[in-house]
Formats: sequence, structure tokens, C-alpha cells
Amino acid sequence: MSSESIVFDPAAGYYDETRGFAPGVEGPAIAAMVRAGEFAPDSRILEVGIGTGRIALPLAAHVRSVTGVDLSRGMIDRLLAKRDDQAVYPVLADATRLPLPTNAFEGAVAVHIFHLIPAWQTALQEVARALKPDGRLVSAYYDQAEKLSPVHELLSAAWDEAVGRDSMENVGVPRARYGTFLTEEGWRQVGEPQVYEYTQTRTPREHVRRMEQRVWSQCWRLPDEVVVRGATAMREAAARAGIDLDAPFEVPSTFKAVAYLPPEG
Ligand SMILES: C[S@@+](CC[C@H](N)C(=O)[O-])C[C@H]1O[C@@H](n2cnc3c(N)ncnc32)[C@H](O)[C@@H]1O
Repeated sequence: MSSESIVFDPAAGYYDETRGFAPGVEGPAIAAMVRAGEFAPDSRILEVGIGTGRIALPLAAHVRSVTGVDLSRGMIDRLLAKRDDQAVYPVLADATRLPLPTNAFEGAVAVHIFHLIPAWQTALQEVARALKPDGRLVSAYYDQAEKLSPVHELLSAAWDEAVGRDSMENVGVPRARYGTFLTEEGWRQVGEPQVYEYTQTRTPREHVRRMEQRVWSQCWRLPDEVVVRGATAMREAAARAGIDLDAPFEVPSTFKAVAYLPPEG
């Protein structure tokens, strides 16, 4: 198994609490993925990095089955504890070496995963192998609006300046290539992106606490003193600007699902 991928065992206990869909978002987000992939009730779907089943469990209501790999035993245990009678089958395995047959799936989904895998090109080749020739990979992700609210902007700028944006770079697909890496690897976009827009709220205190508690995997590798420096910088910037740490700010957000066919040949 690849020891370099970011395996989510440390997050298993709090993943659903911190990454779960906001109320009312799960249904439209999953529907967007089904539309993008043109998934049908008899489709067998592969999920790369199935995690706690945040995607797979609700997706199973629309398709025949979801089979997913993950390197984290803890995340899979969470999924199994939530699974009722859904046809969701997690496998403890590396996405770069799928223990799954060739030409076996009508579709595949990948949500917040390729930035965690250094050998992400190999993982993509494995998805192409496991898909039927006309099977679609739906790449979906949650995104914040490009224009942050002023409070959010201020907190993020303070963090970036204190911590350094480069120290948060991914081990897999770099942040700057999120929108292009699949077409750069020869995958062919099909259909229109399916986008669901919504607004979340968060208080500055919650925002700072999440960074301080290393909720996001990009923070796991930072030394303690760097995290403390970043959190202190955010609190000080908020105090200087007279911001109430308990006054919620809006986070305009999108869930975007884009479908691709594997490279030709
Ligand atoms: C951010 S979580 C996303 C989980 C799920 N797709 C979702 O959206 O909730 C990424 C998951 O990918 C898993 N992972 C990381 N590298 C992997 C690899 N090389 N092979 C399989 N799973 C991997 C992690 O353990 C984690 O559970």
C-alpha cells in the first residue's frame, strides 16, 4: 500500500461532523452527480476514497450498487456503522492498485480525493481500467465562492500570511490544477457541469477553532508552533478590525459535479 497518500484515520472520529453536508444540501448534491454521470437504477458505481460513505450511502438510492476503496480502516468502520440495507461495499485498498475487475462498472465517482494521492495519475489509470468503455467518471467537489465575505477574507489572509500558503500544498493534484487535471490527462469532459449553489454560515470563532484543531488534512503536517502562529494571527486580525468572534458570516458555496469519459485508446 502507498504509505504516502493522506490516509484519514485521524479524521474518522470527526469527519462526518466537520464534512457532512449542510442541512438540505445532500439531496441536491447527490442528484447533481447522478445527472452528470447519467447514472441509472441498474448502474454499478465505483467510488475512489469512499470514506465514511458520505457520498456512497445516499448515492446508493439511485443506482444498483456502490463499491468503494479506501486506505482508512477507521473511515470504513464509520461507514459500516451507518450502513443499513444500502448496496454499498467498501474495500480496504489503495486507489492506485484496485483489487477490482476490468470493465466492470457503469460509472465512477471521486469526491475530494486526488489531491491526497501522490500517484494520482496511476489511480486515474486504474479507474479507466475498471470502467466500462462508455462509463463516466463524475468528479465532484465542494467549493467556496471565489469572492469571500470580508470577514472570511480577513481571517484567511491573516492565516496565509502567518503560515505561508506553500506549506499547505497538497501531496497529490496541486490546488492550481483542480479544474484542469482530468482533461490534461486525456479524460474527455461530457455534458454540462451540474452545479448546486447554497450558502452556509460560520462564526469567526468556529473558523479559527477548526484551523487550530487541524480539522483539514492540509494542516496535519504543520508543526504545532505554526498552527498556533496562524490561529493567533487570525484572532489578532479580528480584534484589530473590531470583529465579534460569535457573529456568523456567510460562506457562499457550490457543489459541482463534472463528468468525464476515459482517455481514448
Ligand atoms: C476527504 S476524504 C473523502 C471521502 C468521501 N469521498 C467524501 O467525499 O466524503 C478522502 C478519503 O480518501 C482516502 N484515501 C486517501 N488516499 C487513498 C488511496 N491512495 N487509496 C484509497 N483511499 C485513499 C482517505 O483515507 C479518505 O477516507
